[in-house]
Amino acid sequence: MAEASFWQSLFRTKPVETYQKEAQESGLRRALGRWSLVSLGIGAIIGGGIFTLTGVAAKLYAGPALALSFLIAGFACLLAALAYAELASIVPVEGSAYAYSYATVGEIIAWIIGWNLILEYMMGATTVAVAWSGYFEKLLHLFNIEVPKWLLNDPYTAIKKAREVGIEPPSFSANIPGFIISWIVVGILIRGIKETASTNNLIVFIKVGAVLFVILAGLFFINAQNWKPFIPPAEIDEIGNVHYGWAGIFTAATIVFFAYIGFDAVSTQAGEAINPRRDVPFAIVASLLITTCLYIGVSLVLTGMVPYKSLDERAPVASAFAGAGVGWATYLITFAAVAGLISVMMVMLLGQTRIFLAMARDGLLPNSIFGYIHPRYRTPFRSTLLVGAIMSLTATFVPIVNVSELTSLGTLLAFTLVSLSVFILRIKRPELERPYKAPLWPVVSLGGVAINIFLMIQARRESLIAFGIWALIGLLVYFLYSRGRSKLRSTTTQ
Ligand code: ALA
Repeated sequence: MAEASFWQSLFRTKPVETYQKEAQESGLRRALGRWSLVSLGIGAIIGGGIFTLTGVAAKLYAGPALALSFLIAGFACLLAALAYAELASIVPVEGSAYAYSYATVGEIIAWIIGWNLILEYMMGATTVAVAWSGYFEKLLHLFNIEVPKWLLNDPYTAIKKAREVGIEPPSFSANIPGFIISWIVVGILIRGIKETASTNNLIVFIKVGAVLFVILAGLFFINAQNWKPFIPPAEIDEIGNVHYGWAGIFTAATIVFFAYIGFDAVSTQAGEAINPRRDVPFAIVASLLITTCLYIGVSLVLTGMVPYKSLDERAPVASAFAGAGVGWATYLITFAAVAGLISVMMVMLLGQTRIFLAMARDGLLPNSIFGYIHPRYRTPFRSTLLVGAIMSLTATFVPIVNVSELTSLGTLLAFTLVSLSVFILRIKRPELERPYKAPLWPVVSLGGVAINIFLMIQARRESLIAFGIWALIGLLVYFLYSRGRSKLRSTTTQ
Protein backbone atom coordinates (compact mmCIF):
# COMPACT_ATOMS: atom_id res chain seq x y z
CA MET A 1 0.00 0.00 0.00
CA ALA A 2 1.39 3.42 -0.92
CA GLU A 3 2.38 5.77 1.91
CA ALA A 4 -0.42 8.30 2.39
CA SER A 5 0.25 11.95 1.57
CA PHE A 6 0.32 14.41 4.46
CA TRP A 7 -3.17 15.71 3.70
CA GLN A 8 -4.61 12.29 3.12
CA SER A 9 -3.23 11.11 6.42
CA LEU A 10 -4.91 13.96 8.27
CA PHE A 11 -8.25 12.82 6.95
CA ARG A 12 -7.74 9.06 7.26
CA THR A 13 -10.90 7.41 8.57
CA LYS A 14 -11.43 4.39 10.75
CA PRO A 15 -13.78 1.90 9.06
CA VAL A 16 -17.22 1.52 10.60
CA GLU A 17 -16.72 -2.24 10.47
CA THR A 18 -13.63 -1.98 12.72
CA TYR A 19 -15.73 -0.11 15.28
CA GLN A 20 -18.47 -2.69 15.09
CA LYS A 21 -15.92 -5.44 15.70
CA GLU A 22 -14.31 -3.57 18.61
CA ALA A 23 -17.72 -2.96 20.18
CA GLN A 24 -18.07 -6.70 20.73
CA GLU A 25 -14.73 -6.91 22.50
CA SER A 26 -15.05 -3.97 24.90
CA GLY A 27 -13.57 -4.90 28.31
CA LEU A 28 -16.28 -2.88 30.06
CA ARG A 29 -19.14 -4.49 31.96
CA ARG A 30 -22.42 -4.51 30.02
CA ALA A 31 -24.89 -3.74 32.80
CA LEU A 32 -27.08 -0.91 31.55
CA GLY A 33 -30.63 -1.56 30.40
CA ARG A 34 -32.90 0.87 28.54
CA TRP A 35 -34.23 2.76 31.57
CA SER A 36 -30.87 2.93 33.32
CA LEU A 37 -29.61 4.70 30.22
CA VAL A 38 -32.56 7.11 30.23
CA SER A 39 -31.88 7.75 33.90
CA LEU A 40 -28.19 8.45 33.18
CA GLY A 41 -29.30 10.96 30.54
CA ILE A 42 -31.62 12.73 32.97
CA GLY A 43 -28.91 12.48 35.64
CA ALA A 44 -26.55 14.42 33.41
CA ILE A 45 -29.07 16.96 32.12
CA ILE A 46 -30.96 18.28 35.14
CA GLY A 47 -28.55 20.29 37.25
CA GLY A 48 -27.86 23.86 38.24
CA GLY A 49 -29.10 25.20 34.91
CA ILE A 50 -32.83 24.94 35.55
CA PHE A 51 -32.58 26.21 39.14
CA THR A 52 -30.39 29.24 38.36
CA LEU A 53 -30.18 30.30 34.68
CA THR A 54 -33.96 30.68 34.42
CA GLY A 55 -33.68 33.85 36.53
CA VAL A 56 -31.33 35.85 34.31
CA ALA A 57 -32.81 34.45 31.11
CA ALA A 58 -36.39 35.48 31.97
CA LYS A 59 -35.69 38.66 33.87
CA LEU A 60 -33.31 40.24 31.37
CA TYR A 61 -34.06 38.64 28.01
CA ALA A 62 -37.20 36.58 27.43
CA GLY A 63 -39.75 37.65 30.04
CA PRO A 64 -42.68 35.21 30.30
CA ALA A 65 -41.66 33.81 26.89
CA LEU A 66 -38.85 31.92 28.64
CA ALA A 67 -40.77 28.74 27.80
CA LEU A 68 -40.22 29.55 24.11
CA SER A 69 -36.48 29.92 24.74
CA PHE A 70 -36.46 26.46 26.32
CA LEU A 71 -38.43 25.17 23.35
CA ILE A 72 -35.92 26.65 20.88
CA ALA A 73 -32.86 25.38 22.78
CA GLY A 74 -34.59 22.00 23.20
CA PHE A 75 -35.30 21.90 19.45
CA ALA A 76 -31.64 22.63 18.62
CA CYS A 77 -30.67 19.81 20.97
CA LEU A 78 -33.27 17.49 19.45
CA LEU A 79 -31.73 17.85 15.99
CA ALA A 80 -28.36 16.90 17.48
CA ALA A 81 -29.96 14.14 19.57
CA LEU A 82 -31.48 12.53 16.46
CA ALA A 83 -28.04 12.61 14.81
CA TYR A 84 -26.43 11.07 17.90
CA ALA A 85 -29.16 8.43 17.95
CA GLU A 86 -28.56 7.41 14.33
CA LEU A 87 -24.78 7.20 14.73
CA ALA A 88 -25.03 5.39 18.05
CA SER A 89 -27.18 2.76 16.33
CA ILE A 90 -24.56 2.23 13.60
CA VAL A 91 -21.38 2.59 15.68
CA PRO A 92 -22.38 1.64 19.23
CA VAL A 93 -19.05 2.46 20.86
CA GLU A 94 -18.07 4.59 23.85
CA GLY A 95 -16.18 7.20 21.79
CA SER A 96 -19.38 9.12 20.95
CA ALA A 97 -18.87 12.21 18.73
CA TYR A 98 -15.14 11.52 18.57
CA ALA A 99 -15.68 8.03 17.17
CA TYR A 100 -18.46 9.11 14.80
CA SER A 101 -16.27 11.76 13.21
CA TYR A 102 -13.32 9.36 13.02
CA ALA A 103 -15.50 7.04 10.99
CA THR A 104 -16.69 9.77 8.66
CA VAL A 105 -14.76 13.03 8.33
CA GLY A 106 -11.30 11.88 9.38
CA GLU A 107 -8.66 11.75 12.08
CA ILE A 108 -7.81 15.42 12.49
CA ILE A 109 -11.45 16.41 12.90
CA ALA A 110 -12.03 13.48 15.26
CA TRP A 111 -9.06 14.65 17.31
CA ILE A 112 -10.39 18.21 17.47
CA ILE A 113 -13.75 16.86 18.59
CA GLY A 114 -12.19 14.58 21.20
CA TRP A 115 -10.16 17.54 22.44
CA ASN A 116 -13.28 19.73 22.61
CA LEU A 117 -15.19 17.11 24.47
CA ILE A 118 -12.71 17.72 27.29
CA LEU A 119 -14.32 21.15 27.55
CA GLU A 120 -17.76 19.60 27.67
CA TYR A 121 -17.07 16.75 30.04
CA MET A 122 -14.02 17.41 32.21
CA MET A 123 -14.34 21.20 32.33
CA GLY A 124 -18.13 20.82 32.60
CA ALA A 125 -17.78 18.47 35.58
CA THR A 126 -15.28 20.83 37.21
CA THR A 127 -17.55 23.88 36.91
CA VAL A 128 -20.34 21.76 38.35
CA ALA A 129 -18.06 20.81 41.29
CA VAL A 130 -17.56 24.52 42.02
CA ALA A 131 -21.30 25.20 41.65
CA TRP A 132 -21.98 22.25 43.96
CA SER A 133 -19.78 23.82 46.59
CA GLY A 134 -21.92 26.99 46.36
CA TYR A 135 -25.16 25.05 46.84
CA PHE A 136 -23.63 23.06 49.67
CA GLU A 137 -22.71 26.29 51.43
CA LYS A 138 -26.32 27.49 51.00
CA LEU A 139 -27.66 24.24 52.41
CA LEU A 140 -25.42 24.51 55.48
CA HIS A 141 -26.47 28.14 55.86
CA LEU A 142 -30.15 27.08 55.90
CA PHE A 143 -29.29 24.98 58.94
CA ASN A 144 -27.36 27.89 60.49
CA ILE A 145 -24.00 26.22 59.93
CA GLU A 146 -21.44 28.78 58.79
CA VAL A 147 -18.15 27.58 57.33
CA PRO A 148 -15.21 30.04 57.12
CA LYS A 149 -15.00 31.53 53.61
CA TRP A 150 -11.37 30.49 53.21
CA LEU A 151 -12.53 26.86 53.22
CA LEU A 152 -15.10 27.48 50.49
CA ASN A 153 -13.33 29.40 47.72
CA ASP A 154 -10.29 29.15 45.50
CA PRO A 155 -7.59 31.70 46.47
CA TYR A 156 -8.40 34.18 43.68
CA THR A 157 -12.14 34.23 44.42
CA ALA A 158 -11.48 34.46 48.16
CA ILE A 159 -9.30 37.57 47.69
CA LYS A 160 -11.85 39.12 45.32
CA LYS A 161 -14.74 38.52 47.73
CA ALA A 162 -12.75 39.85 50.71
CA ARG A 163 -11.90 43.06 48.82
CA GLU A 164 -15.55 43.51 47.79
CA VAL A 165 -16.65 43.59 51.41
CA GLY A 166 -13.56 45.53 52.51
CA ILE A 167 -11.95 42.91 54.77
CA GLU A 168 -8.39 41.59 54.93
CA PRO A 169 -7.95 38.80 52.29
CA PRO A 170 -7.07 35.37 53.78
CA SER A 171 -3.46 34.19 53.41
CA PHE A 172 -4.64 30.73 52.34
CA SER A 173 -7.87 29.61 50.77
CA ALA A 174 -9.16 26.46 49.05
CA ASN A 175 -12.50 25.17 47.85
CA ILE A 176 -12.62 22.15 50.16
CA PRO A 177 -16.20 21.01 49.38
CA GLY A 178 -15.29 21.04 45.66
CA PHE A 179 -12.28 18.84 46.42
CA ILE A 180 -14.20 16.37 48.58
CA ILE A 181 -17.16 15.97 46.23
CA SER A 182 -14.81 15.34 43.28
CA TRP A 183 -13.24 12.39 45.11
CA ILE A 184 -16.59 11.01 46.26
CA VAL A 185 -17.70 10.95 42.63
CA VAL A 186 -14.42 9.33 41.56
CA GLY A 187 -14.84 6.68 44.27
CA ILE A 188 -18.33 5.75 43.01
CA LEU A 189 -17.19 5.66 39.39
CA ILE A 190 -14.22 3.43 40.12
CA ARG A 191 -16.33 0.88 42.01
CA GLY A 192 -18.23 -0.02 38.89
CA ILE A 193 -20.93 0.84 36.42
CA LYS A 194 -23.65 -0.92 38.47
CA GLU A 195 -22.85 1.13 41.57
CA THR A 196 -22.74 4.29 39.44
CA ALA A 197 -26.12 3.51 37.85
CA SER A 198 -27.86 2.80 41.15
CA THR A 199 -26.49 5.96 42.80
CA ASN A 200 -27.61 7.89 39.74
CA ASN A 201 -31.12 6.38 39.86
CA LEU A 202 -31.57 7.52 43.44
CA ILE A 203 -30.42 11.06 42.65
CA VAL A 204 -32.61 11.26 39.55
CA PHE A 205 -35.59 10.22 41.67
CA ILE A 206 -34.87 13.12 44.08
CA LYS A 207 -34.32 15.78 41.46
CA VAL A 208 -37.18 14.84 39.15
CA GLY A 209 -39.35 14.80 42.29
CA ALA A 210 -38.20 18.33 43.14
CA VAL A 211 -38.88 19.60 39.61
CA LEU A 212 -42.35 18.02 39.62
CA PHE A 213 -42.98 19.61 43.00
CA VAL A 214 -42.03 23.02 41.58
CA ILE A 215 -44.44 22.56 38.67
CA LEU A 216 -47.39 21.12 40.62
CA ALA A 217 -47.12 23.26 43.74
CA GLY A 218 -46.35 26.34 41.64
CA LEU A 219 -49.65 25.93 39.75
CA PHE A 220 -51.48 27.11 42.87
CA PHE A 221 -49.62 30.43 42.91
CA ILE A 222 -49.92 31.41 39.27
CA ASN A 223 -51.33 34.83 38.49
CA ALA A 224 -52.11 34.86 34.78
CA GLN A 225 -51.59 38.64 34.71
CA ASN A 226 -47.85 37.96 35.08
CA TRP A 227 -47.86 36.34 31.63
CA LYS A 228 -49.14 39.51 29.95
CA PRO A 229 -47.64 40.44 27.57
CA PHE A 230 -46.21 36.96 26.94
CA ILE A 231 -43.51 38.43 24.67
CA PRO A 232 -42.61 41.86 26.08
CA PRO A 233 -41.69 44.46 23.42
CA ALA A 234 -37.98 44.61 22.55
CA GLU A 235 -35.81 47.16 24.38
CA ILE A 236 -32.28 48.22 23.44
CA ASP A 237 -29.93 49.10 26.27
CA GLU A 238 -27.20 51.78 26.23
CA ILE A 239 -24.55 49.37 24.89
CA GLY A 240 -26.80 48.10 22.12
CA ASN A 241 -27.90 44.74 23.59
CA VAL A 242 -31.47 43.76 22.82
CA HIS A 243 -33.71 42.65 25.68
CA TYR A 244 -37.09 40.93 25.20
CA GLY A 245 -38.90 40.55 21.89
CA TRP A 246 -37.79 37.71 19.62
CA ALA A 247 -34.13 38.73 19.79
CA GLY A 248 -34.30 38.46 23.58
CA ILE A 249 -35.96 35.05 23.30
CA PHE A 250 -33.03 33.80 21.18
CA THR A 251 -30.43 35.23 23.57
CA ALA A 252 -32.21 33.50 26.43
CA ALA A 253 -32.18 30.28 24.38
CA THR A 254 -28.38 30.40 24.19
CA ILE A 255 -28.22 31.00 27.95
CA VAL A 256 -30.52 28.11 28.86
CA PHE A 257 -28.81 25.79 26.35
CA PHE A 258 -26.47 24.91 29.22
CA ALA A 259 -29.40 23.36 31.09
CA TYR A 260 -29.72 20.71 28.34
CA ILE A 261 -26.08 19.72 28.20
CA GLY A 262 -25.62 16.11 29.14
CA PHE A 263 -28.05 14.09 27.01
CA ASP A 264 -25.24 13.24 24.61
CA ALA A 265 -23.29 11.64 27.46
CA VAL A 266 -25.60 8.65 27.06
CA SER A 267 -23.79 7.87 23.81
CA THR A 268 -20.53 7.36 25.72
CA GLN A 269 -22.18 4.51 27.60
CA ALA A 270 -22.60 2.34 24.52
CA GLY A 271 -19.78 0.07 25.71
CA GLU A 272 -21.67 -0.63 28.95
CA ALA A 273 -25.17 -0.98 27.48
CA ILE A 274 -26.72 -4.42 27.25
CA ASN A 275 -28.34 -3.65 23.91
CA PRO A 276 -26.59 -0.50 22.69
CA ARG A 277 -27.87 -0.36 19.12
CA ARG A 278 -31.48 -0.22 20.25
CA ASP A 279 -31.38 1.31 23.73
CA VAL A 280 -28.77 4.09 23.39
CA PRO A 281 -30.67 5.93 20.60
CA PHE A 282 -33.89 5.55 22.59
CA ALA A 283 -32.34 6.88 25.79
CA ILE A 284 -30.72 9.89 24.11
CA VAL A 285 -34.01 11.08 22.63
CA ALA A 286 -36.20 10.06 25.60
CA SER A 287 -34.08 11.80 28.24
CA LEU A 288 -34.05 14.97 26.16
CA LEU A 289 -37.81 14.96 25.54
CA ILE A 290 -38.62 14.28 29.21
CA THR A 291 -36.42 17.13 30.42
CA THR A 292 -37.70 19.52 27.75
CA CYS A 293 -41.26 18.99 29.05
CA LEU A 294 -40.10 19.51 32.65
CA TYR A 295 -38.16 22.66 31.75
CA ILE A 296 -41.09 24.20 29.87
CA GLY A 297 -43.33 23.43 32.86
CA VAL A 298 -40.90 25.13 35.27
CA SER A 299 -40.58 28.19 32.99
CA LEU A 300 -44.32 28.68 32.73
CA VAL A 301 -44.87 28.26 36.46
CA LEU A 302 -42.00 30.52 37.44
CA THR A 303 -42.97 33.40 35.16
CA GLY A 304 -46.60 32.92 36.23
CA MET A 305 -45.74 33.13 39.93
CA VAL A 306 -43.57 36.25 39.89
CA PRO A 307 -43.59 39.30 37.54
CA TYR A 308 -40.53 38.57 35.38
CA LYS A 309 -38.80 41.82 36.28
CA SER A 310 -38.89 40.85 39.97
CA LEU A 311 -37.31 37.42 39.49
CA ASP A 312 -34.25 36.71 41.62
CA GLU A 313 -31.16 36.32 39.42
CA ARG A 314 -29.25 33.93 41.67
CA ALA A 315 -31.89 31.56 43.00
CA PRO A 316 -35.06 32.33 41.03
CA VAL A 317 -36.99 29.15 41.77
CA ALA A 318 -36.32 29.01 45.50
CA SER A 319 -37.03 32.74 45.94
CA ALA A 320 -40.29 32.51 43.97
CA PHE A 321 -41.55 29.96 46.50
CA ALA A 322 -40.18 31.89 49.46
CA GLY A 323 -42.03 34.96 48.11
CA ALA A 324 -45.24 32.92 47.88
CA GLY A 325 -44.94 32.04 51.57
CA VAL A 326 -43.67 28.47 50.97
CA GLY A 327 -40.33 29.08 52.67
CA TRP A 328 -39.63 25.40 53.27
CA ALA A 329 -39.49 24.88 49.49
CA THR A 330 -36.08 26.57 49.67
CA TYR A 331 -34.83 23.58 51.70
CA LEU A 332 -36.25 21.12 49.19
CA ILE A 333 -34.86 22.92 46.14
CA THR A 334 -31.43 23.50 47.66
CA PHE A 335 -31.24 19.87 48.74
CA ALA A 336 -32.35 18.70 45.27
CA ALA A 337 -29.66 20.88 43.67
CA VAL A 338 -26.97 19.56 46.03
CA ALA A 339 -27.97 15.96 45.27
CA GLY A 340 -28.73 16.65 41.60
CA LEU A 341 -25.37 18.15 40.75
CA ILE A 342 -23.61 15.02 42.01
CA SER A 343 -25.11 12.94 39.23
CA VAL A 344 -24.27 15.61 36.62
CA MET A 345 -20.63 15.35 37.71
CA MET A 346 -20.80 11.58 37.77
CA VAL A 347 -22.14 11.16 34.24
CA MET A 348 -19.82 13.82 32.81
CA LEU A 349 -16.77 12.20 34.32
CA LEU A 350 -18.03 8.82 33.17
CA GLY A 351 -18.31 10.26 29.65
CA GLN A 352 -14.85 11.82 29.78
CA THR A 353 -13.08 8.61 30.73
CA ARG A 354 -14.94 6.62 28.03
CA ILE A 355 -13.95 9.13 25.34
CA PHE A 356 -10.33 8.98 26.51
CA LEU A 357 -10.59 5.19 26.42
CA ALA A 358 -11.69 5.32 22.78
CA MET A 359 -8.88 7.74 21.90
CA ALA A 360 -6.31 5.59 23.68
CA ARG A 361 -7.48 2.48 21.81
CA ASP A 362 -6.89 4.33 18.55
CA GLY A 363 -3.35 5.19 19.66
CA LEU A 364 -3.99 8.94 20.03
CA LEU A 365 -3.52 8.98 23.83
CA PRO A 366 -1.24 6.83 26.05
CA ASN A 367 -2.93 3.45 26.30
CA SER A 368 -1.24 2.44 29.57
CA ILE A 369 -3.12 5.22 31.38
CA PHE A 370 -6.29 5.89 29.43
CA GLY A 371 -6.87 2.41 28.02
CA TYR A 372 -6.28 0.45 31.23
CA ILE A 373 -9.37 -1.38 32.49
CA HIS A 374 -9.34 -2.58 36.12
CA PRO A 375 -9.64 -6.39 36.05
CA ARG A 376 -12.12 -6.57 38.95
CA TYR A 377 -14.17 -3.37 38.67
CA ARG A 378 -14.03 -3.35 34.84
CA THR A 379 -13.80 0.43 34.76
CA PRO A 380 -11.04 2.66 33.29
CA PHE A 381 -9.32 2.86 36.66
CA ARG A 382 -6.20 4.95 36.03
CA SER A 383 -7.95 7.35 33.70
CA THR A 384 -10.72 7.97 36.25
CA LEU A 385 -8.10 8.65 38.94
CA LEU A 386 -6.16 11.03 36.72
CA VAL A 387 -9.23 12.93 35.51
CA GLY A 388 -10.48 13.05 39.11
CA ALA A 389 -7.15 14.46 40.31
CA ILE A 390 -7.18 17.21 37.65
CA MET A 391 -10.83 18.00 38.35
CA SER A 392 -10.44 18.13 42.13
CA LEU A 393 -7.32 20.32 42.07
CA THR A 394 -8.83 22.70 39.51
CA ALA A 395 -12.07 23.00 41.50
CA THR A 396 -10.08 23.64 44.67
CA PHE A 397 -7.59 26.23 43.46
CA VAL A 398 -8.66 27.74 40.13
CA PRO A 399 -11.39 30.40 39.65
CA ILE A 400 -13.26 28.69 36.83
CA VAL A 401 -16.83 29.54 37.65
CA ASN A 402 -17.17 31.68 34.55
CA VAL A 403 -16.13 29.12 31.98
CA SER A 404 -19.52 27.50 31.47
CA GLU A 405 -19.70 29.26 28.10
CA LEU A 406 -16.60 27.32 27.02
CA THR A 407 -18.39 24.14 28.02
CA SER A 408 -21.32 25.18 25.83
CA LEU A 409 -19.02 25.99 22.91
CA GLY A 410 -17.26 22.62 23.09
CA THR A 411 -20.64 20.93 23.17
CA LEU A 412 -22.03 22.94 20.26
CA LEU A 413 -19.05 22.10 18.08
CA ALA A 414 -19.55 18.42 18.88
CA PHE A 415 -23.25 18.71 18.00
CA THR A 416 -22.39 20.41 14.71
CA LEU A 417 -19.95 17.72 13.67
CA VAL A 418 -22.21 14.87 14.74
CA SER A 419 -24.98 16.29 12.56
CA LEU A 420 -22.48 16.68 9.70
CA SER A 421 -21.29 13.09 10.19
CA VAL A 422 -24.82 11.76 9.70
CA PHE A 423 -25.06 13.71 6.45
CA ILE A 424 -21.69 12.46 5.16
CA LEU A 425 -22.26 8.85 6.18
CA ARG A 426 -25.64 8.72 4.42
CA ILE A 427 -23.88 9.75 1.21
CA LYS A 428 -20.68 7.72 1.62
CA ARG A 429 -22.19 4.55 3.07
CA PRO A 430 -25.89 4.43 2.21
CA GLU A 431 -25.91 0.63 2.48
CA LEU A 432 -24.97 0.49 6.21
CA GLU A 433 -27.56 -1.09 8.45
CA ARG A 434 -29.16 1.70 10.50
CA PRO A 435 -31.29 0.29 13.35
CA TYR A 436 -32.35 3.89 14.00
CA LYS A 437 -32.67 6.41 11.18
CA ALA A 438 -33.16 10.13 11.86
CA PRO A 439 -36.26 11.40 10.04
CA LEU A 440 -36.49 14.00 7.24
CA TRP A 441 -33.03 13.64 5.74
CA PRO A 442 -31.22 15.96 4.98
CA VAL A 443 -33.28 18.62 6.79
CA VAL A 444 -32.55 17.27 10.28
CA SER A 445 -28.79 16.86 9.79
CA LEU A 446 -28.19 20.10 7.88
CA GLY A 447 -30.60 21.93 10.19
CA GLY A 448 -28.54 20.58 13.12
CA VAL A 449 -25.35 21.96 11.58
CA ALA A 450 -26.92 25.38 10.93
CA ILE A 451 -28.64 25.85 14.27
CA ASN A 452 -25.61 24.78 16.31
CA ILE A 453 -23.25 27.07 14.39
CA PHE A 454 -25.78 29.87 14.87
CA LEU A 455 -25.77 29.29 18.63
CA MET A 456 -21.95 29.15 18.68
CA ILE A 457 -21.56 32.56 17.11
CA GLN A 458 -23.80 34.08 19.75
CA ALA A 459 -21.09 33.45 22.36
CA ARG A 460 -19.08 36.33 23.83
CA ARG A 461 -15.88 37.27 22.00
CA GLU A 462 -13.61 36.38 24.94
CA SER A 463 -15.10 32.89 25.06
CA LEU A 464 -14.61 32.41 21.30
CA ILE A 465 -10.97 33.50 21.62
CA ALA A 466 -10.37 31.16 24.58
CA PHE A 467 -12.02 28.41 22.54
CA GLY A 468 -9.64 29.10 19.63
CA ILE A 469 -6.62 28.98 21.95
CA TRP A 470 -7.77 25.66 23.37
CA ALA A 471 -8.11 24.28 19.82
CA LEU A 472 -4.56 25.44 18.98
CA ILE A 473 -3.13 23.69 22.03
CA GLY A 474 -5.01 20.59 20.91
CA LEU A 475 -3.45 20.78 17.43
CA LEU A 476 0.00 21.05 18.97
CA VAL A 477 -0.59 17.91 21.02
CA TYR A 478 -1.91 16.16 17.92
CA PHE A 479 1.09 16.98 15.75
CA LEU A 480 3.70 16.45 18.46
CA TYR A 481 2.29 13.27 19.99
CA SER A 482 -0.84 11.66 18.61
CA ARG A 483 -0.44 11.75 14.84
CA GLY A 484 2.71 9.64 14.83
CA ARG A 485 1.19 7.08 17.19
CA SER A 486 -2.17 6.69 15.51
CA LYS A 487 -3.02 3.06 14.79
CA LEU A 488 -3.99 4.15 11.28
CA ARG A 489 -0.60 5.73 10.59
CA SER A 490 0.67 3.12 8.16
CA THR A 491 -2.44 3.03 5.98
CA THR A 492 -3.60 5.22 3.15
CA THR A 493 -6.85 7.10 3.64
CA GLN A 494 -9.81 4.75 3.73
N1 ALA B 1 -27.24 20.47 32.16
C1 ALA B 1 -26.40 20.54 33.29
C2 ALA B 1 -26.82 21.58 34.26
O1 ALA B 1 -27.78 22.27 34.01
C3 ALA B 1 -24.99 20.75 32.87
O2 ALA B 1 -26.21 21.72 35.30
